[in-house]
Amino acid sequence: MTPSEHVDNTAAPQHVAIVMDGNGRWARERELPREQGHQHGRIKLHDVVRAFSERGVRYLTLYAFSTENWRRPSEEVEGLMTLAAEAIKQDAPRLHQEGARLVHLGRKDRINPDIAAAIDRVVDMTKGNTGITLSVAFDYGGREEILEAARTLLRDDITPDDVNESTFASRLFTNGLPDPDLIIRTGGELRISNFLLWQAAYAELYFTPTLWPDFGPEEVRKALDSYAARKRRFGALDGE
Ligand code: FPP
Repeated sequence: MTPSEHVDNTAAPQHVAIVMDGNGRWARERELPREQGHQHGRIKLHDVVRAFSERGVRYLTLYAFSTENWRRPSEEVEGLMTLAAEAIKQDAPRLHQEGARLVHLGRKDRINPDIAAAIDRVVDMTKGNTGITLSVAFDYGGREEILEAARTLLRDDITPDDVNESTFASRLFTNGLPDPDLIIRTGGELRISNFLLWQAAYAELYFTPTLWPDFGPEEVRKALDSYAARKRRFGALDGE
């Protein structure tokens, strides 16, 4: 029996989404360039996915690059693109072996065509897997996603009476994924930063000062314990 089989998963959230913040400060504290912070952040990805999967989480969504991140200095943007390529090369095959299904959320028309093609390949390669669904938000912005869904509804000639939560949600990048139950933000800031704006309607929020490169299995346990202690009411009263 592996250690994970001792864990009580009954109160695990089905879907956890994470704003991975604090790479730059982690690097600064060590007098390293910011890129090294992102590099260490990338190295954590695999262990964190595994830790959530072992605790019974079925969907994990990571905010890796926002529509606003294009405004960073070009060397930092290029560094993040290189890391994405590395993650696809090194992490995706391991995750595939472990049965993970990979999904991309966001635009693909602005990123390097080689990276866009590599994303398509790993999504296709893992589409039949039945383990954790790992969605990577890359060139993703919540407002843009909502606007694009509205444009698609108009292009699809939907009549106003047919616009409802279901027809709208089916035009979002997250079509087919459940809404997140728990959104975690590392790095101490208390904001949502244009992440999953529609989908976050009833999510529990968890903020930790821990910087992303320091976020490991022990932090995963703390976040899930905090979630398990909460009472979700979805706008109703207790007991309804
Ligand atoms: C925020 O930290 C983090 C990012 C903008 C990038 C997140 C990316 C990774 C964790 C790894 C890379 C993975 C892929 C797939 C590209 P920050 O730079 O805003 O930190 P700071 O607030 O301390 O400056």
